[in-house]
Amino acid sequence: MSERRVVVITGAGGTLGAALSCQFVAEPETDVVLSDVSAASLDATLAVLPGDHGAVETLLADVSDLAQVEAVIGLAIERFGRLDVLISNAGVLAPNGRIHNLATEDWERAFRINVLGAVNGITAAVGVMRTQQSGSIVLTASVAGLTAWSHAAPYCATKAAVIQLAKVAAVEYARDGIRVNCVCPGTFLSGIHDDLPPEAIDAIAVKHPLGLGAAADLVGAYSYLASDASRWTTGSAIVVDGGYSAP
Ligand SMILES: NC(=O)c1ccc[n+]([C@@H]2O[C@H](COP(=O)([O-])OP(=O)(O)OC[C@H]3O[C@@H](n4cnc5c(N)ncnc54)[C@H](O)[C@@H]3O)[C@@H](O)[C@H]2O)c1
Repeated sequence: MSERRVVVITGAGGTLGAALSCQFVAEPETDVVLSDVSAASLDATLAVLPGDHGAVETLLADVSDLAQVEAVIGLAIERFGRLDVLISNAGVLAPNGRIHNLATEDWERAFRINVLGAVNGITAAVGVMRTQQSGSIVLTASVAGLTAWSHAAPYCATKAAVIQLAKVAAVEYARDGIRVNCVCPGTFLSGIHDDLPPEAIDAIAVKHPLGLGAAADLVGAYSYLASDASRWTTGSAIVVDGGYSAP
């Protein structure tokens, strides 16, 4: 068995994806496959990777398309021969609005990318991990999946679905040696907030006892869930939110 570890990250071109890419590529004996739907974002992540690191492969893919996600996992196998960790991190916000004002297309897009994207990642990864009888899958959920945000029902509902998906997958694949967990971040400023006015950001910030976070505040939880240190942890939703959900 190879002693090197192979990590696949989706949404690798985003703010959190870039931080995760920098973290994992610098971890010992680790090679990575970085994927995103946006070529420009992926290039931006490649530009900030630390100098000394393992092998890096990239592939553009839309997580809502199973064939494209399978191609990403296929690249890991073709290039590195195995898949140890999948971090399913791609995600989108939906437009703000009360439930009855939101368009069907907004709901569909949120479910296609946030939920089906995670389903596709699990489906593609377990095809390999079941053969290996080992693997760790980490989904990016959100505290929005645990708490109610007015005017953000598609985001809250899809992230709640991601949490439940991690739990069910953990139960289904435990006997195959596969662990499935998710991380529930509080708010850290990123591309998904580009359309929010400053007042909205301020209103979110005051609800975090420790203030808004940064992507760097999240990577430790992913690193733990990807590693053998978490070998007895599966079906967990690890909250890293600056105290947002504590009250
Ligand atoms: N920023 C926050 O406050 C926050 C809080 C909780 C959870 N999250 C979650 O963290 C994850 C990363 O988000 P971020 O804040 O870094 O935002 P971001 O917009 O910087 O990154 C998201 C990335 O996902 C990619 N993406 C979007 N649709 C895709 C698709 N169909 N296929 C493949 N890639 C796609 C985008 O191109 C982008 O690079 C998301 O799942 C998000 O919901 C973010």
